[in-house]
Amino acid sequence: MTDAWMIDELAYAGPEHLDTEFVAGYDRKQGYPDPEQELAVFAAQGLGPQSVLVDLGAGTGQFALPAARRFGQVIAVDISPVMVRQLTERAAAAGLANLHAVRAGFLSYEHQGPPADGVYTRHALHQLPDFWKTIALGRIARLLRPGGTLVYCTCSLEPEEGEQAVSRFLAAEPSMRRAPIEASEVAGLAEIVTAEGDLRTLPCHLPHDDPRLGGLDGFYAARLVKS
Ligand SMILES: C[S@@+](CC[C@H](N)C(=O)[O-])C[C@H]1O[C@@H](n2cnc3c(N)ncnc32)[C@H](O)[C@@H]1O
Repeated sequence: MTDAWMIDELAYAGPEHLDTEFVAGYDRKQGYPDPEQELAVFAAQGLGPQSVLVDLGAGTGQFALPAARRFGQVIAVDISPVMVRQLTERAAAAGLANLHAVRAGFLSYEHQGPPADGVYTRHALHQLPDFWKTIALGRIARLLRPGGTLVYCTCSLEPEEGEQAVSRFLAAEPSMRRAPIEASEVAGLAEIVTAEGDLRTLPCHLPHDDPRLGGLDGFYAARLVKS
């Protein structure tokens, strides 16, 4: 990233993501979200043991590690050297030679090898200023092979980070279209699937007699496919 007009992604990464102590406690603070539904959304698009998947803003590998157990090659990209170090150590400890941690950003990652079958990004793109989000999404579209799938997720329920970001992306990238998520792909929970076929979970979903056990965290996800 040597171009003078380019922003320094590290400066926007969120200082906590560069802090060794914060990163060491990241999973405990974040909880341990079950990656199964997101893995299933890729599997439903045909990704399998031969597939290449890129996780952008991979953090500690909460998705990349289980994805590497399921898919052929996983490239976990993060701008934070601390996150990348932790990911590298975890991949080695788990014996996952097909998981490669790369220090780069949405704007600077240069993909090597065959185009990706899948790109995943969760709760990371919001770090970039709006103008650069659009550039980053365009770069993601170019990473994918025709027929490749992007799963875009955010733990925010702000429409500008979810539905509006996706609408802008689809308007700017005619090669990308939404592949609606079916309730059957998410354990039949029709109430978490929007009219457009995105996922939107709320604390009122999955109620339980004991309110301490009921409810889902706010979460938004869309599945987009390249023509
Ligand atoms: C809230 S964490 C989410 C991590 C992971 N995706 C998850 O859901 O657990 C945001 C991550 O995005 C990374 N990040 C921030 N800006 C980035 C950028 N421009 N390019 C790539 N990664 C970035 C941070 O270092 C951090 O690891």
